[in-house]
Amino acid sequence: MNEPAANYSFVPAQAGHAVPDRWQPIKVPRAEIAAEIDRLAERAVEPGARRSSEIVHANALDLGRGITPGLSIAIQVLRPGETIMIDRDNANRVEFCLGGEGEALLGQRSFRVEKWSAWMVPSMTPRLYRNSGQQLLIWLSYSNQPLLERAGVYYADAVHDHPQAAPRRPGINQYARDTAPDIAISDDGARLRGYEFLTDIEVVDNPPLLWPWREMLPHLSRRQGDDKRTIMLMYNPATGRRNGTTHSFFATITSFPAGPLRPPPPRGHRHSSFATNYHFEGAGESVVDGQRFEWEAGDLMLSAPSWAEHSHGISERGASVLTVQDHPFQIGMGALIWQEDMAGPVLTLGSEPGQTGYVGPRLAGE
Ligand SMILES: [Fe+2]
Repeated sequence: MNEPAANYSFVPAQAGHAVPDRWQPIKVPRAEIAAEIDRLAERAVEPGARRSSEIVHANALDLGRGITPGLSIAIQVLRPGETIMIDRDNANRVEFCLGGEGEALLGQRSFRVEKWSAWMVPSMTPRLYRNSGQQLLIWLSYSNQPLLERAGVYYADAVHDHPQAAPRRPGINQYARDTAPDIAISDDGARLRGYEFLTDIEVVDNPPLLWPWREMLPHLSRRQGDDKRTIMLMYNPATGRRNGTTHSFFATITSFPAGPLRPPPPRGHRHSSFATNYHFEGAGESVVDGQRFEWEAGDLMLSAPSWAEHSHGISERGASVLTVQDHPFQIGMGALIWQEDMAGPVLTLGSEPGQTGYVGPRLAGE
């Protein structure tokens, strides 16, 4: 028998129980974020250079630096009058403005951005940001770049370095998806299809989208008894049943009005999706894998590493929170597992019936 070549080997196949690799929860306090913003703003940079830092978890490997294995959060700052251009790449992004005002030119779309507005940037979209206000323009940029880097598939280039795709010629092409063979192989769904299905994939329009804070605000609960929901999803229709803001992430706004203290429930729930919380109004408390964290406006948390049990409480002041989780990505793989009751079943959401009677994080509807 031939010896294997030196660039691979055979190893025993994995068997038995496994749980996701749980990173430690972390809190990045408001004061440290503010100090980093000041440092970025004061740094001398060449015109057009970025003022940007990524928040990198101590568990992160050199390849795929992020706050979780699947998410990078960058703090971006522009002084008044500054503009930056960023080449396209195949990461997708949710961005959230912390202060100031300006323009985001994302591909062909131009958005006016201001405090607490959110927007999404599809992959392969060149970006230009301009601070047109009198204060610093500050935003958080959430991307799946670490995951792509770990998989060895991260790509970035300048769009003008490449020719544009030729427009499709009218008429029937013999080798296109709609003329390719598509043959039933069994009564329960197995089919054989032509290669054209792989190269001429159905296009789902996925332009950049903006969620201005002033448009979201009337739909968020802001006072006790206003009969509005305390958590709302920024939905992008391109993500369909995966209910994302991008193809990787959902972003929600939680808005609990001031009211009675709501301590964290004694037990939490857990899911394979990670959750990061940026708290921008009020205060509260989270218990993550037995660790207790008090938080207030301006604090950012990796508040639920994958499969970490977590529960959240809200102070009498209420709280507003931007949550980003990688549900759509995991639903796309059929990998999103969820355990609501720590003594209950582990459900595969999207593949079997999920939770009902649920109107907010661990809040039952009546
Ligand atoms: Fe959760």
